[in-house]
Amino acid sequence: MRDAPAATDLLAWYGRHARTMPWRVPPPAQGGTGRADPYRVWLSEVMLQQTTVAAVTDYFNRFTARWPDVAALAAAEDGDVMAQWAGLGYYARARNLLKCARVVASQYQGQFPNTYQGLLALPGIGPYTAAAISAIAFDQPETVVDGNVERVMARLFDVHTPLPTAKAELTRHAATLTPIHRPGDYAQAVMDLGATICTPRNPACSLCPWQGACQAFKNGTAPQLPKKTPKKPKPTRLGHAYVGQRADGAWLLERRADSGLLGGMLGWPGGPWHDEGQVPPAIAPLPGAWVQMPQPALHTFTHFHLRLIVWVAALPLDAAPTAGHFVTHNEFRPSDLPTVMRKVFEIARPAFLAAPQVGRSHGSN
Ligand code: ADE
Repeated sequence: MRDAPAATDLLAWYGRHARTMPWRVPPPAQGGTGRADPYRVWLSEVMLQQTTVAAVTDYFNRFTARWPDVAALAAAEDGDVMAQWAGLGYYARARNLLKCARVVASQYQGQFPNTYQGLLALPGIGPYTAAAISAIAFDQPETVVDGNVERVMARLFDVHTPLPTAKAELTRHAATLTPIHRPGDYAQAVMDLGATICTPRNPACSLCPWQGACQAFKNGTAPQLPKKTPKKPKPTRLGHAYVGQRADGAWLLERRADSGLLGGMLGWPGGPWHDEGQVPPAIAPLPGAWVQMPQPALHTFTHFHLRLIVWVAALPLDAAPTAGHFVTHNEFRPSDLPTVMRKVFEIARPAFLAAPQVGRSHGSN
């Protein structure tokens, strides 16, 4: 007979091995007391969607230093929040974050609702985030299922149905294990187990507190699980990016429309991106001596690769672009740009440092 997986075994393991995270209250065995701040749990969980703990930590610390509570974030300028989010990707998350903060500040007296249903009604909070906040911040026995938890459940119950079809089945298994006692620590313990022991490759089964209960360990199938339906290959889209610097050092940037990919983010003007095969027409934001850089900027989004042709020009002081606005040299921070636009800047930058064809002679003299 195999043991049944028990939450108590996992909680005992978590007491010894919980990872330290800036939004987390350590388990009692590590001296933690009380519950985590719902604002910090919400912010961390939104940041952690599609992103790793390592990538999120610095962003989280910068955000909470600048906006320590939901009222502070609600009062922030949109552009400042988008700039702080730059580089984390999935920018709709940042737009919804701000919307949610404003709703909580104005309609909920700055207090997050303490139930799954209440949380689910807020902008940008889906089933995963609602379950995570209600478990971690309010100790509600909700079942939290992310990619780590799916992998742990697929192995524990030796589920061979491929993802994403298996999602509902894995969620049902996970729900059978959620305890009434310390559901918040338990939710984080399963995620930590998936991140550190029950890893995608080379799981460390000999160190696992659930080894005795794991069907896949027993059957030798753990490394092959979870099964996944093969993904379609990604198409490549093509576009242009125009990096222009005025004679006074200001850069020509454009705030993208709020909807769609990179919505609300600053970037280089360049027009729409086209599907594979169609080379889009090059439409500069103003006439000028645009020079094409030898290398394109390459970036991969969730559903496609993007190749941007990078153009550079020195612009005169009286430049009157049809797209974008000038940002002074002192105010311009490449770190405010989303990663693809930072890549464009890295490719363009040498032209402004050295090359005589993009010198400062235009418009001056
Ligand atoms: N991934 C997402 N949220 C997490 C959390 N609270 N603990 C560990 N891993 C996580």
